[in-house]
Amino acid sequence: MDFIDEVTFNSAMRKKSISLLLLSLLVWGIITYFLFLTRTTDNKDKNVLSNQINSLKAQVERRIADNQILLKRLIELQQKKLAEQIKTPSPVNEEILNVTYPVASTVKLKTEEEIVSERLQALSSKKLVNDSPIIAVLVISCNRITVQRCLDQLIKLRTNADQFPIIVSQDCEHKQTADVIKSYGDQVVHIQQPDQSDIDIPPREKKFKGYFKIARHYGWALNKVFFEFGFDTTIIVEDDLDVAPDFYEYFLGTYPLLVADKSLWCVSAWNDNGKSGLVDENAPHLLYRTDFFPGLGWMLTKDLWQELSVKWPKAYWDDWIRQPEQRKNRACIRPELSRTRTFGKVGVSNGLFYEKHLKYIKLNDQSVPFTKMNLSYLLKDNYDINFVNDVYHSTVVSYSELKSGNIITSGSVRIPYHSRQAFKNTAKMLGLMDDFRSGVPRTGYRGVITFFYNKRRVHLAPNMNWKGYDISWS
Ligand SMILES: *[C@@H]1O[C@H](CO)[C@@H](O)[C@H](O)[C@H]1NC(C)=O
Ligand SMILES: *[C@@H]1O[C@H](CO)[C@@H](O)[C@H](O)[C@H]1NC(C)=O
Repeated sequence: MDFIDEVTFNSAMRKKSISLLLLSLLVWGIITYFLFLTRTTDNKDKNVLSNQINSLKAQVERRIADNQILLKRLIELQQKKLAEQIKTPSPVNEEILNVTYPVASTVKLKTEEEIVSERLQALSSKKLVNDSPIIAVLVISCNRITVQRCLDQLIKLRTNADQFPIIVSQDCEHKQTADVIKSYGDQVVHIQQPDQSDIDIPPREKKFKGYFKIARHYGWALNKVFFEFGFDTTIIVEDDLDVAPDFYEYFLGTYPLLVADKSLWCVSAWNDNGKSGLVDENAPHLLYRTDFFPGLGWMLTKDLWQELSVKWPKAYWDDWIRQPEQRKNRACIRPELSRTRTFGKVGVSNGLFYEKHLKYIKLNDQSVPFTKMNLSYLLKDNYDINFVNDVYHSTVVSYSELKSGNIITSGSVRIPYHSRQAFKNTAKMLGLMDDFRSGVPRTGYRGVITFFYNKRRVHLAPNMNWKGYDISWS
């Protein structure tokens, strides 16, 4: 029975019920009237009559009850049908609801958000797709229509839409950007951060308003993905990122490490020193641990979000997350060759930084089958032994020796540093990032920066008896 038939059917049934009811009442009335007129003194007759009346009364009552049940069932049936119709709404259906369907007013119509949310909850509760984990991809967007460039790649490279549902979270209420996102239809889920109120910002920080809005947006979006939609893992991607061909494979392959190793808290697609000339372009399979939180395309679990969400900061979330109180000595996995690259942004971030540095990051262009590889060398217990061994057994060289290429020994080499300034000087000369966050240099692991230079693996390293990061280094 299609929808229109059912409406017609319902109104016909209802007319019938009402007629029956009226008829019953009429019969009841006539009998009462008759009784009134023929008041008899005969007790026996009286009893007979009163029995008949009771029986009639019972019949009428039963009829009324039956009618009510029937009516209730019809309403339930139609509400069910309605709910289905609403899931795929069309203007025609809406008109029918408004014009010819009075019961609609008693049904609570689900909002588009509720429908999306339920769909994602149903998906996330499956946990696995083809025996492989479901990982949501959260794209952070605001007012840049170039989000299109990022989405095109994410969609094109994705092998399974159920395994990697793309959720585009938009702040800023920018109409053109919203239109671009909407144009992807079912391929992505578009959610919009509703709180556009002004943020209370200390006067001295007014010019950093953007950072406050970003932190608010991240917090909201991650709450949605983990606590409302129910995903266990998500990859955060900003709207200005290009992604490598093996982007999904990289995260899927490293996912077991993130789950198994409690000393890891993220997997990042980004190498902060990943410029051409500082990486081995023939080693796209190579991965590292780093104490420096890189961001820029990174995966986290719900467990971590449970921990961070309760104290999420009002601004500068990325530097906040790098503080010892948050990091708690945990590391991220990062690749030799970045799996993301920013294609430039006009916004809160410094444009100069892009021109001087970000622009030169080499994006991996090969496909590495990470899910089929044995990555257990990255687990802390395996990694640290080998890493310390390799770093401190390597030949010590000076910057000029390295630069000249006149090194006789094979294998990796080490340039020692003993002070903050020595680190900065050497880093600058080599073209490495020389800044610190909470005392940690970019890509640093146990104070060591590992990179590739003149066809050689190089460690810029502190003393072997290194005592940990000095948060006063900046
Ligand atoms: C149906 O009614 C609702 C509420 O009165 C209204 O907002 C909506 O525009 C109507 N839809 C159509 C198609 O008439
Ligand atoms: C994976 O590599 C580790 C060494 O890192 C080794 O101990 C382990 O046996 C390997 N596992 C498999 C399945 O090959």
